[in-house]
Amino acid sequence: MVTIRMAKKEDISGILAVERESFEEYLRYSPAEMRYLLFEANSEGWVAEMDGKIAGYYILLFRKNARVARLYSIAVAEEWRGKGIGRALLQHAEKRAIERGCSAMHLEVKTTNCSAIDLYTKNGYSQVEILPDYYKKGVHGIRMEKRL
Ligand SMILES: CC(C)(COP(=O)(O)OP(=O)(O)OC[C@H]1O[C@@H](n2cnc3c(N)ncnc32)[C@H](O)[C@@H]1OP(=O)(O)O)[C@@H](O)C(=O)NCCC(=O)NCCS
Repeated sequence: MVTIRMAKKEDISGILAVERESFEEYLRYSPAEMRYLLFEANSEGWVAEMDGKIAGYYILLFRKNARVARLYSIAVAEEWRGKGIGRALLQHAEKRAIERGCSAMHLEVKTTNCSAIDLYTKNGYSQVEILPDYYKKGVHGIRMEKRL
């Protein structure tokens, strides 16, 4: 059974391990950046735990007085993919955004990331904007949004 709980300081290495196998190097955060994103920014970090190990995580960013939350990062460890954990994390993030007073969620995804685009589309997200060279030159993004 997957347990979703708020990230703690001692989860950083487990979260970075999932991030390493999920994103190319230029997209990854340093431990200090990850710590900032999880614990110091106007944000929340949650992890999915399986058998006591970190199987996935998400980071949600908020802006002061804004009713749109931003799903900044979401990933599932390779060995746990395709088992519904990504969907569970996404739905959890939406619940948290609602609890924090947000009425919409937005996120950015690479145009080539079919599994993530599929996950978002199946969960009610629509494509609102194409973002040319968003990640780096020649690597484009799509902004997706859902009303909560
Ligand atoms: C995207 C990601 C989080 C999905 O996590 P997951 O736990 O494997 O997803 P789930 O098992 O919950 O699947 C939910 C839905 O996602 C989509 N999906 C997941 N894996 C897929 C794949 N390999 N191909 C196509 N669609 C896929 C499907 O729509 C699936 O629904 P279905 O089971 O009804 O077909 C995971 O693949 C991942 O961590 N990728 C690397 C990091 C990343 O790209 N994050 C998103 C950045 S924007």
